[in-house]
This record gives sequence, C-alpha cells and structure tokens, in this order.
Amino acid sequence: MTTLFDKLTIGNIELSNRILYAPMTRSRANDEGVQPDFVAEYYGQRATAGLLITEATNVSAMAKGYVRTPGVYNEEQIASWRNVTERVHAEGGKIFLQIFHTGRIALPDLLPENAQPVAPSAVAAAGQNYTDAGMKDFVVPRPLDTDEVKSIVKDFATAARNAIAAGFDGIEIHGANGYLIQQFLSTNVNLRTDEYGGSVENRSRFLLEIVDAIVAEIGWERTGLRLSPGGEFNDIKENDAEELYDYVIGELNKRKLAYLHIGTFDQNRDWHPVLRPKYDGIYLAGVGFDKERGERTLAEGGADAIVYGKLFLANPDLPERFRLNAPINEWDESTFYTPGEKGYTDYPALEQVNVAGK
Ligand SMILES: Cc1cc2nc3c(=O)[nH]c(=O)nc-3n(C[C@H](O)[C@H](O)[C@H](O)COP(=O)(O)O)c2cc1C
Repeated sequence: MTTLFDKLTIGNIELSNRILYAPMTRSRANDEGVQPDFVAEYYGQRATAGLLITEATNVSAMAKGYVRTPGVYNEEQIASWRNVTERVHAEGGKIFLQIFHTGRIALPDLLPENAQPVAPSAVAAAGQNYTDAGMKDFVVPRPLDTDEVKSIVKDFATAARNAIAAGFDGIEIHGANGYLIQQFLSTNVNLRTDEYGGSVENRSRFLLEIVDAIVAEIGWERTGLRLSPGGEFNDIKENDAEELYDYVIGELNKRKLAYLHIGTFDQNRDWHPVLRPKYDGIYLAGVGFDKERGERTLAEGGADAIVYGKLFLANPDLPERFRLNAPINEWDESTFYTPGEKGYTDYPALEQVNVAGK
C-alpha cells in the first residue's frame, strides 16, 4: 500500500516522499521580477517536501498579472532564482519552477508602457485585480494575432530553458486557474476562428504546442503540467469540460511528461476519480487535502503524490509533522501577498522533536 512517505520517481529524479509543496504566488519580488535573498530561506525551510513547485513565474514582461511577481526572462531574474535552487539542493530538496502567462488577468498598470493585456479574444474578465493604487477592474484585452500566439509558445520554451540554467530540476506549465492557457481552453474567452479557436482540438492547440516546445527544449523528464478542469476561477467557463479534458489527456498520453498535476476549484465535481484512471503517467492530486485524505487517496491508488498548499505554507516542516502527528500551525491570509518576511519565513518549525527512545 502506497503511503505519503514512500519515494517516487518522476522523470530522472527520485522524490524522498509524496508530500509536495503547491505552487503559491507570494509577491515578494521587486518590480523587475527579481527575487530578494530571503526567498531562498523560504523555499529552503520547506525543502523536506518530496518536490517544491514554486510560485507562478512570468515568462515575459507581458505575462505579468500580479504585483511583485518574479520573472524568468532576463539574467538578473535567473541569477536571483539560482540562489533559491542552490539553497534547496543544499538542503537535499528538489524544485520545479512554475511558469505562466496571465493573459487578460493582467492590468495595464503592471505591463510595459501600460500596454493593453492580451488574450485569445476581446473578452474582459468579470471582477477586479489588486494594484498598489487599489483594486482595479479587469480591462478588455487585445486579441492576439496568430503569429503572436506562436511567439508566446516560444517564450514558454525560452523560460523553461532559463529555468534549467537557474538550476531547477524541471518546470511546471501553469495551464490552470484561468490564465492564458486556460483562456485558450475555455469556451467563454476563446472566440477565435483561426487554428487556435472553435473545436476542442483547436482550443487545446496552444497548450499542446507549449508542451511540445518545452519537451523539445528541456526533455519530458523535466516537464510537468498543471490543469484545473471545470474550474471557474478568474471567470472561466468550459461548457464542454468533460470532452475537452478527455481529448487533452488522450493527447498527453501520446507524449510523456514528468507528471500531470490536477488541482481545481470546481465546487460541483471531484475530478480526481474521473481523470486519474485516464492518465497513463505520474498523477499529482491537489486542492483541499489534509493528512488523512492524502493517505486515503494514495492507498486507493487515486494519485501518485499529494500537493499541499496552505497547510504547507504555514508548516515549513509539514512532512515531519505528519510523521509525528504533531500539531499544525494556522495560516495567516493577511500576509499571503504582502512584501517582506512577515508571514513568509517566520512560520515556526517544531522546536523539539519528541521521538520515542531519544
Ligand atoms: C497564496 C496562494 C497563492 C497561490 N498561487 C498559485 C500559483 O501561483 N499557481 C498555482 O498553480 N496555484 C496557486 N494557488 C493555488 C494552490 O496551488 C492550491 O491549489 C490551493 O492553495 C489549494 O490547495 P490547498 O487546499 O492545499 O491550499 C495559490 C494559493 C494560495 C493560497
């Protein structure tokens, strides 16, 4: 019976356990997308995860949708990430960089020369986004022309190559949570009539071209993918989600990946039992797991590993706490995205470990 403490091989690396750290935006970078030194401390504290998946990182200046988010498209950014990977490896951990483009979720305030955000079609998201000058409504994005779509595919491949140069063990493509890739997958943001819109095949093309370009660049062993089927976060609708993800997973099965990470905020449906049996490779399950549900899911073959978000954010030594059934720190939402080290590197680890016989 598989447990949270069993090893797992993904691609060419061996994870020491199946308790993984979820990608989480923490907005501690500077305005140029360069990580300060204390980011290495934050990830280093959590290096006992079987695998750390970093916060979503911008593949280009036009990808940026949130204040103080890191990039991986210039030398200074790459150097700042190198501090992080060196620290995590020195602690014996493994780390993948999550890469994304936010598409219509960006605001002109965050883009070069206050540019209009881009998307598959000119459909604004309902709602608002945070800026240092207060909350602002999402704007109508500019539809990408076909050549621009192809050039963003290349930006993803370059970002993946840069991540490897920064010392990451691999990358995770962020195809979830309503950002550019899911905007292409959706039926409400993608109204295109070229080869990237319309049918399920066409709406999946952008995602699959990114997968193929990255695999060609850094190898399948170092390429992971996150998807959020049926998730409506960031005002996404997928009217044909079942057919869509059936097709996508069929296509992924023709290729090889380090893993498929499914973590979705769909109130109406538990997608793990639907998708796990369809996917031939390593399957990571996330969103809403505690120790007990993680144990049960692994024991039943419902996933190969479990991805923990807020619980792990607040408990840097979560695997050890699970092992000892130790008390769990609460998370503090008020510091999720604030600058500086408060609520970031100051969650306490267990001070004294009472192991029987010691
Ligand atoms: C502060 C915060 C930031 C997040 N940022 C990201 C992100 O950058 N990329 C991503 O794929 N998911 C992001 N998520 C979603 C988490 O990866 C995870 O799916 C979510 O927290 C639910 O899992 P949990 O119930 O274990 O916390 C974020 C969640 C939180 C709480």
